[in-house]
Amino acid sequence: MTPQQVAVAVVVVTLGLLIVLLVLYGRPRRSPQEGLPANFSRGDPDSVLENQRLQKILVWGVASSVILAGFLTFYFVKEPYREAAYNKKFLAASVARGEVQFRPDLAAGQTGANCAQCHGPNGEGGFAATDPNWPAPPLDNEFQRYTVDEITSIIEMGRPGTPMPTWGVEFGGPLNDQQIQDVVNFLQTIQIQDKYELPASITDGKTVFMRKCAVCHGQDAHGQALGQPLPTFFAPDLTTEFYRLGLKVEKVTVTQNLTNQLLAAHSDQTAPTAQQVDAAMAKLSPAEIQAAGETAARNTILNGRKNTPMPAWQNRIRPEQVDAVLQFLKSIQRIPS
Ligand code: HEC
Ligand code: HEC
Repeated sequence: MTPQQVAVAVVVVTLGLLIVLLVLYGRPRRSPQEGLPANFSRGDPDSVLENQRLQKILVWGVASSVILAGFLTFYFVKEPYREAAYNKKFLAASVARGEVQFRPDLAAGQTGANCAQCHGPNGEGGFAATDPNWPAPPLDNEFQRYTVDEITSIIEMGRPGTPMPTWGVEFGGPLNDQQIQDVVNFLQTIQIQDKYELPASITDGKTVFMRKCAVCHGQDAHGQALGQPLPTFFAPDLTTEFYRLGLKVEKVTVTQNLTNQLLAAHSDQTAPTAQQVDAAMAKLSPAEIQAAGETAARNTILNGRKNTPMPAWQNRIRPEQVDAVLQFLKSIQRIPS
């Protein structure tokens, strides 16, 4: 018998006994000829009332109070532990359900949201199964980037315009609040102490580029116009970037140098002419220009470009990965015609 059945049986038996007792003793017994009502007759004296029976009742009263007090103390002390144990049990069950949502064992016939097919079996990040060019970020350090509430709402709403589907039932997705809570609880158990978006194991510059830059700058790094539904920004061609950036940087340096020279020579002319600047620029070798561009590119990668979609990467990928992606870019540089 389950505990519920035992409880039902106890209640039924107790109610039955109560009914029997009521039927037997419940009705006032009256003698046909009623005598003097009890309150008109004289009561028993103390010597009769304070007898053995009273003593016994009092002792029982004290004993049962002591037992009740003991029980209540025990209950009071134990209750928080009992509640905590239950919370732990419920959380464990929720995490287990979340894990099935996250990475269902399809071979064993489990079904679920299968976040793992895009975000990787351990949430280490991967690519969207529906669009293999689109990186799906790691979720194993998500809680260092977003709060629990933000994560819950990202999952509920998805990311419209990206392969990240909408999951919340309020937004037309397949998962109810409990199921989303389960997934969030599960994600909390796979967090690693790593604020970066790429695991340390990724050290190859091309992989860094494919995972983090190709979405905007294109698979071949030739740049592309982006935005939904109409293009709203352009992610530049990175294969000619060292040279183009280098030209801009060098022009500033050359102009400054020429100005300094004019000042030192106490000339009447205060600024170099465009022809003078061009002539000085023409003396620079492409390698010099590219070297200046490389430094500028590193700064752009580390700090991003304010008010453009180009993110600052220094807190998102590791310093070695910045170096690696820069090496990769260096290997694909050409001089624009
Ligand atoms: C079809 C592939 C796919 C599936 C399935 C998928 N995601 Fe995503 N998810 C993505 C992509 C792609 C992004 C990145 C979107 C972007 O570029 O902003 C993303 C972004 C996210 C983000 C934001 C990450 C960040 O750091 O910006 C969270 C959180 C997330 N997904 C959770 C989940 C959860 C939980 C599930 C399962 C219930 C899931 N995803 C299923 C593809 C997927
Ligand atoms: C969300 C889209 C996006 C992603 C992802 C992105 N970029 Fe950019 N990037 C841009 C945009 C847009 C610009 C142009 C900014 C401007 O208008 O000044 C840019 C500019 C640059 C520039 C300067 C180019 C120039 O000619 O001025 C470099 C270098 C660069 N990105 C490198 C990277 C690298 C390396 C990564 C990956 C680690 C990356 N970007 C990821 C959007 C992106």
